[in-house]
Amino acid sequence: MEINALAGRLPEAAADTLVVNLLQGVAHPGGATRAVDEALGGAISRLIASGDFTGKPNQTALLYPAADAAGVTATRVLLVGLGKGDDLTLDRVRQAAGTAARRARDLGARSVATVLHGAGAAGLSAGAAAQALAEGSLLAVHRFDELKGTGTGGAGGASEDGEDAGRHLQRLTVVELDEAKLPEIAAGLRRGVILAESAVFARDLTTRPGNILSPRVLAAAAEEMAGAAGLRCTVLGPEEIAELKMGALLGVAQGSAEPARFVVVEHAPEDADGPPIVLCGKAITFDSGGISIKPSEGMWAMKDDMAGGAAVLGALRALSLLGVRRRAVALVASAENMPSGTAIRPGDVLRAMDGQTIEIISTDAEGRLVLADALAYGQRYSPAAMVDAATLTGGVITALGHGAAGVMGNDADVVNRLRAAGDATGERVWELPLWDDAYKRAIRSDIADMKNSGGRAASAIAGGMFLKQFARKTPWAHLDIAGMSWADADSPYRPKGATGYGVRLLAEFVAGYVAAD
Ligand code: BES
Ligand code: MN
Ligand code: ZN
Repeated sequence: MEINALAGRLPEAAADTLVVNLLQGVAHPGGATRAVDEALGGAISRLIASGDFTGKPNQTALLYPAADAAGVTATRVLLVGLGKGDDLTLDRVRQAAGTAARRARDLGARSVATVLHGAGAAGLSAGAAAQALAEGSLLAVHRFDELKGTGTGGAGGASEDGEDAGRHLQRLTVVELDEAKLPEIAAGLRRGVILAESAVFARDLTTRPGNILSPRVLAAAAEEMAGAAGLRCTVLGPEEIAELKMGALLGVAQGSAEPARFVVVEHAPEDADGPPIVLCGKAITFDSGGISIKPSEGMWAMKDDMAGGAAVLGALRALSLLGVRRRAVALVASAENMPSGTAIRPGDVLRAMDGQTIEIISTDAEGRLVLADALAYGQRYSPAAMVDAATLTGGVITALGHGAAGVMGNDADVVNRLRAAGDATGERVWELPLWDDAYKRAIRSDIADMKNSGGRAASAIAGGMFLKQFARKTPWAHLDIAGMSWADADSPYRPKGATGYGVRLLAEFVAGYVAAD
């Protein structure tokens, strides 16, 4: 979908669908909504007066212009609710844009002309509103169809009834009356497109099943993305990983026929100063649990166990294309966790890259193992901050459900910056404690430096405590995204399936380290 901005009046815009908005409780709309209302002979005002449309968040209504509607060439007008003016956040704008784009697409629209939602109101700048509009629209209409057949067998399309396979929005135009605002709007749209496309990159990696996306294929996808986005990429295979003495990553991989990969992606702009920000990602391309095998029901969903790795790769893509003036490094530790005669056993002891030893209690607590080596490797950059993203525990879903990722760290500033970035992007986080006196006992081992599982109690925190041992003195935080990487149902700009969670959050987080000039 192409997104652009034009100066002009919305009613006469050349598109098959016009999108206008309404704040909840507004009886007499202004701006572009009013202009379209007048062109339609007051149809929007009558709709509001009827009480059928109140402007509740994400409410929609469709109107069809009469043949004599002044200057209107569009075949339909789509009205979308923004909710109450006092609650109008950027996320409401993303949602309204997503709701409208999705509805228009499902109706078969090819071209949409829209007004900027929420600009001017609630202190939202035109640039920020434009960015949110682009993000919401693109994220809402994206779908993964590369494995859908075009033949005669099966459903034969992107939907169950096979009817919407050919439905693609091709163009979205933001129409703005005030020509002076166009440069700011165009820049905001461009930022939104980069961020949404980076999240889509992460979604598509996450959606790909284990037989298609092995660690090798994931590394190749990272290399290809890096080449296209102007990033440096180095892929380490099993021999190099062994040379680095990454015994924890190799231990997880040893039960699988697919060898491990360790991927380093670097964003090193010339005008950047300060030590880099290091982002580590868990990338288990399939997590069967290993010898501590998972129940078979729902096990298919463990193809998404590389969502943390996908998120840090997507974030690096965005940072490069946005030109963020801060060094950043993504470290992706990738393996497949399988049971076999060569797999690690419960009771085994592994030695991580930094020399610390780990007693394996559960081979299903594998994410922290691969991340241990990534965090240890990250020390060589003397980073200003290190953050890891991982689908680490079912426990974080028990604690926070699907509303926020768990954040835990050894540094209040890093955690606070993640919280702020989460609020700004709508990819929210919530802190869980890592108190040594309360929780360190969960990972105490009788025969090694630590054990990899502390059982059921506070398992998300035990995972964080484990990783903390490898972060050492580096300011660090861990994001447990197990509840956020996959959605079981649609929401306004997040179709069900892989969410791409963390890409926009981490890009915003790193951008926050750029000194303001
Ligand atoms: N990948 C899983 C965590 C997970 C579970 C993600 C459900 C998404 C949905 C992870 O590797 C795992 O198996 N964690 C165990 C840890 C336990 C053995 C300490 C868990 O949460 O049960
Ligand atoms: Mn596991
Ligand atoms: Zn896992």
